[in-house]
Amino acid sequence: MSTRTAVVTGASSGIGEATARELAAQGFHVYVGARRVDRLRRLADEIGGTALELDVTSEDSVRAAVDAIERVDVLVNNAGGAKGMATVAESDLDDWRWMWETNVLGTLRVTKALLPKLIDSGDGIIVTVTSVAALTAYDNGSGYTTAKHAQGVLHRTLRGELLGKPVRLTEIAPGAVETEFSLVRFDGDQERADKVYEGIDPLVAADIAEIIGFVTSRPSHVNLDQIIVKPRDQADAGRFARRA
Ligand SMILES: NC(=O)c1ccc[n+]([C@@H]2O[C@H](COP(=O)([O-])OP(=O)(O)OC[C@H]3O[C@@H](n4cnc5c(N)ncnc54)[C@H](OP(=O)(O)O)[C@@H]3O)[C@@H](O)[C@H]2O)c1
Repeated sequence: MSTRTAVVTGASSGIGEATARELAAQGFHVYVGARRVDRLRRLADEIGGTALELDVTSEDSVRAAVDAIERVDVLVNNAGGAKGMATVAESDLDDWRWMWETNVLGTLRVTKALLPKLIDSGDGIIVTVTSVAALTAYDNGSGYTTAKHAQGVLHRTLRGELLGKPVRLTEIAPGAVETEFSLVRFDGDQERADKVYEGIDPLVAADIAEIIGFVTSRPSHVNLDQIIVKPRDQADAGRFARRA
């Protein structure tokens, strides 16, 4: 049997990078995709995978990346993130566009392009990393919560549409994970990003990667539909127990 192959989007940092390492350790050949190719090359060298220059907001970039891949058993839709924390009244349309393009349309583009190969594999798995923001609304977060809700509904719709086909679908909805996520959200403001994790023990990228590794190592008849995972210090999207 030829080597099973995984594609991880947003693998240049955080959850995607940790997931690529986890899947490589399970014996997958991993295609790591993102825009920062220098980081991807270092990771690919380390895990014996393949770096793929990929911008999920670009149709041409997705097409070129997909054409370079022959076989796909696992797709991890992980590329995404948030921009800003604004009320609806003060929302920035460019930030909304970034969040919808990356999280929602990016997931749609990549999934649509790889679906025939996932079906052809005979036992495909699509893991989509949404968020607790896909399940609840919070103040000042509408650009992100609406995008993550839409991404979640897209993924859950596919679960029904692919019924009878050899493809499993798992949504992972994490709470706070300490990655570059908040640095991106706050436009490189490290102090503001650090405050998000102050006084709590957040999840780390490897926590999510290990869960994805559990998903991909279940037997073919087992479909984990949705996994919500939060730090012990977090009860809901905006509700934390912070130590002084
Ligand atoms: N951290 C959290 O608290 C948390 C909680 C729940 C859900 N999530 C979700 O988890 C996923 C991973 O985030 P993370 O926490 O690991 O944050 P991160 O460290 O900022 O990683 C985000 C990844 O997405 C990639 N990306 C962004 N725009 C892209 C584009 N247009 N095309 C391709 N790749 C793109 C980035 O790579 P490049 O910049 O190199 O392209 C990077 O590799 C996201 O979907 C995020 O919404 C995070």
